[in-house]
Amino acid sequence: MTITYSFPKDFWWGSATSATQIEGAANAGGKGKNIWDHWYETESNRFFENVGPETTSDFYHRYKEDIRRMKEIGHNTYRFSISWSRLIPGGRGEINPEAVTFYNNVIDELLAHDIEPFINLFHFDMPFELQEEGGWENREVVEAYARFADECFRLFGDCVTKWFTFNEPIVPVEGGYLYDFHYPNIVDAKRAFQVAYNTMIAHAKAVEAFRRHHIPDGIIGIILNLTPSYPRSNNPADLRASQIADLFFNRSFLDPAVLGEYPQELIDILKEHGHLPTVEKGDKKLLKTNTADILGVNYYQPRRVKAKENMPNPYGPFMPDWFFDMYEMPGRKMNKYRGWEIYEKGVYDIMINLKENYGNIPSFISENGMGVQNEERFIENGEIQDDYRIEFIREHLKWLHQAIEEGCNAKGYHLWSFMDNWSWMNAYKNRYGFFSVNLETQERTAKKSAYWIKAVSDNNGF
Ligand code: GAL
Repeated sequence: MTITYSFPKDFWWGSATSATQIEGAANAGGKGKNIWDHWYETESNRFFENVGPETTSDFYHRYKEDIRRMKEIGHNTYRFSISWSRLIPGGRGEINPEAVTFYNNVIDELLAHDIEPFINLFHFDMPFELQEEGGWENREVVEAYARFADECFRLFGDCVTKWFTFNEPIVPVEGGYLYDFHYPNIVDAKRAFQVAYNTMIAHAKAVEAFRRHHIPDGIIGIILNLTPSYPRSNNPADLRASQIADLFFNRSFLDPAVLGEYPQELIDILKEHGHLPTVEKGDKKLLKTNTADILGVNYYQPRRVKAKENMPNPYGPFMPDWFFDMYEMPGRKMNKYRGWEIYEKGVYDIMINLKENYGNIPSFISENGMGVQNEERFIENGEIQDDYRIEFIREHLKWLHQAIEEGCNAKGYHLWSFMDNWSWMNAYKNRYGFFSVNLETQERTAKKSAYWIKAVSDNNGF
């Protein structure tokens, strides 16, 4: 077999998951409630087919067989998250010993299979009690998070060297404070910017705590959904619109995480509109001295923008969308099963940007994947023939390969996700896994892509 696209030695092949989306056991093992448990209890109708987070994919009970499956499909690395409300019910205070046992078991099982664990500390899952105190709007909650992170490094730092503070920290901002798709369902840009800012302070405090532990070979970073903003045209108004979208949705986290400071232009815009967040003395230095060692890049789809067609209501609430409109490019390639554009070159553009403007920080594709509804329709001979997923992964990998050829510092590729899982408000609507999950029986079945990725991992290329 000839390998046309060969990846660097020790390339990371694997997948990503998060606690709430796979563990289940939401009310077992001593776990406290997080905002998802609470929101589902109060408004189950907002979740696709009323499916909630109680059971999800039952990884809590099935981690052993699942880790065996990871090994079978060639994983050498795997990212999961620690549920804050499982480890420290209520968010502060006593550690839950059952959670320590569970996460230690998962780590041990992975290591026994030669799969390196990557741990993420926050994946949209604020403990409910802390949300009641204002969540990320409250600096006390930031302190509680820093202590939680510190406990994780103490408890698991002897076996785990790759750490991440947050997954897609902008999503709780967008979902919870701008566009109403996460609890607490607030729509208020001023509060949104405070939440975004405080999240970055929490990140920096976790990095600071991490440094104190001196974990041999330990590195820490953050996982960002970097969505390139492509302008409709080179017309100055379109270009400006795309630059501002980039400031709000990418650079608002990327710059402080990697460069240790916010873009001046973003500060200027927020100042002009009276939306600067409240800061504390010492924050600037904290951010500057606690930048990320590594960056996880989640990439699903591009953001295409154009100049605004209508002036925003000057009396209406300030929103990032005051500066641009979304643009539907004619002829774009679509994942028609999910309604998202597919633009594989985005991976390359992100990587080149990191190389040119962010010191070529070590990075990897921490999520990329294709959600598809009703995949049973593609079953033949008992197996989901997900050729569309194989093509999706292959075409993204080609561009990643190209970026590496050009000197980008990309170290791996993780699919979202190992198995079908619970995707927040969409619950189990869109399926993303290498393995399908039958929600009645919890039975896992490999899809065609599972065998394909195994060959890719074995050959370190394709
Ligand atoms: C990402 C997120 C994941 C998962 C995925 C697929 O943005 O990090 O938690 O839900 O989207 O929808």
